[in-house]
Amino acid sequence: MTAGFDGRRCCAYRLAVHPDHRRQGVATALLEAAERRFAALGGRRVDALVLEDNVRAHHAWGAAGYRREDHWRRWVKPL
Ligand SMILES: CC(C)(COP(=O)(O)OP(=O)(O)OC[C@H]1O[C@@H](n2cnc3c(N)ncnc32)[C@H](O)[C@@H]1OP(=O)(O)O)[C@@H](O)C(=O)NCCC(=O)NCCS
Repeated sequence: MTAGFDGRRCCAYRLAVHPDHRRQGVATALLEAAERRFAALGGRRVDALVLEDNVRAHHAWGAAGYRREDHWRRWVKPL
């Protein structure tokens, strides 16, 4: 997992746990560590990009207290 803070936004990326070690609280521990660090830096909200069809991820993010916001869409420009 990567956790990034640009001084305003806290972003959590690439949350993944090896299949042999899932459902043992590893993702929960990673997120809690990132959230503690964000909070210490003054962050107030964490953003995560989660694919619409990744139901397993929805469960994991939801269990960690994250909620989907329907009014956003990702805008991108390939370089
Ligand atoms: C999503 C992922 C990171 C979760 O990692 P994990 O270490 O297994 O998660 P945790 O053990 O911390 O799970 C915490 C809670 O999330 C929920 N959860 C996690 N995986 C779940 C699953 N497959 N089905 C239902 N709920 C799930 C449960 O509530 C779980 O608590 P519990 O085990 O006490 O019931 C892991 O499944 C993974 O690497 N998936 C592939 C990569 C991926 O899709 N990453 C997300 C990108 S946005």
